[in-house]
Amino acid sequence: MSTRGLILGIESSCDETAAAVVERGARTVSSVVASQIATHARYGGVVPELASREHLRAIVPVVRAALAQARITLADLDAIAVTAGPGLAGALLVGVTYAKALAFAQGLPLVAVNHLEGHIHAVLLNEHEQEQALQAVEEPIVLKGHDFSRAANTTKKSRALAPEANSPSPSEPALALVVSGGHTHLYLVRPAHGTWTYKLVGRTLDDAAGEAYDKVAKLLGFGYPGGPWIDALSRFGNPKAVPFAFSHIKPKVYLAGKVPRTKAAKTAPIADLDPRFLFSFSGIKTAVLRYVELHILREEAHDRAARLFAPNSEARPPQTKEEALALCPQQILDLAASFQCAVVGDLMKKSFAAAESLGARSILVTGGVAANRELRGRFTAEAARRGLRIAFPTLALSTDNAAMIAAAAWPRFQAGEFAEGSLSGDPSLALGR
Ligand code: KG4
Ligand code: ZN
Repeated sequence: MSTRGLILGIESSCDETAAAVVERGARTVSSVVASQIATHARYGGVVPELASREHLRAIVPVVRAALAQARITLADLDAIAVTAGPGLAGALLVGVTYAKALAFAQGLPLVAVNHLEGHIHAVLLNEHEQEQALQAVEEPIVLKGHDFSRAANTTKKSRALAPEANSPSPSEPALALVVSGGHTHLYLVRPAHGTWTYKLVGRTLDDAAGEAYDKVAKLLGFGYPGGPWIDALSRFGNPKAVPFAFSHIKPKVYLAGKVPRTKAAKTAPIADLDPRFLFSFSGIKTAVLRYVELHILREEAHDRAARLFAPNSEARPPQTKEEALALCPQQILDLAASFQCAVVGDLMKKSFAAAESLGARSILVTGGVAANRELRGRFTAEAARRGLRIAFPTLALSTDNAAMIAAAAWPRFQAGEFAEGSLSGDPSLALGR
């Protein structure tokens, strides 16, 4: 065991097998992600059985690669952290079983991390890393009369500047929007006695925002995951072309128990939530379907999917308007832009309303959909207008990774919150109440 505060994080809740080494919850020493996108792309979504099989194949090489990239061995670690849920049952089982075995064999403590907590810590980890880089620049290294401040963030000195855990983080309390393929949840986040508390204040009643992106992209004949496709296509379309609207969610509907029993509904209770902060993305998906049928676009989408998913096709989201128009007519670009504009608008409206009503002084946006260009731009502008601080993870930390799991484990490790030997993956694990 070392005194460096090195935690090995393991993540296998969905379709990425990931391992990372993070120092004191504040510096990524290594991060390896094995994506299963190629396996699931041809089915237009994650196939749980295939995901488990791929995790089994990848977990040992991915963990070895993370240790090698960090230039350490298992003996240098202080703890192992693993995603315990929510996620796919079989996928979680692979990571949890492997982490337990490794921790037992090495005599290391095991820390169980909620995947959503991991996404929130991706932002905090990013903040810590930016602070270190800044500090390194601000504290010039003066050597024989020369000022090396501009190069300082690449020196060993900058590495020694790792801040203490839980030191300056976003102004508290923070409102966190976790928006991904499996979740659209709002939390009020506060530091408390060395760790963090999470109060659930809003969530989707049905589909997650990322799920809507994936389903709409599939319907329009584009690739999986759909978010990066819709993101790229939207740049070239008119967001006002199709007036999608989100209806108000009536408290009676969900209190009367009429809420669909979906994946999302299982991971968080809804009874005490303010209906102003509830989301629903299944309606807009159906509205896009209606539009496609009404405008006889189905066949065109079908042909595109056949072209894009032909063997050896290396389809990727378009970078220019010409590339976009080579893939689809302007009408589809307008549809994609209108869908995205409506989804981002709804996420913004409810997140900022919650931040204002709950007295949050900063907003964190995280999860795969936080990689979206329009979302980042519009959230940033609105936060500036309201005088709120806003933070996103880097693009690499937005989608699933294990650095966020190792970072989230650090305060728990310090507080001695270790997992029991009986730990098992919980597909519906809830965070906060
Ligand atoms: O966080 P993540 O990697 O996995 C889950 O925990 O679900 O998020 C994956 C989701 C997918 O639904 C994907 O379509 C979406 O994030 N996504 C995006 C973008 N990049 C990924 N959605 C919108 N715009 C993007 N640029
Ligand atoms: Zn995720």
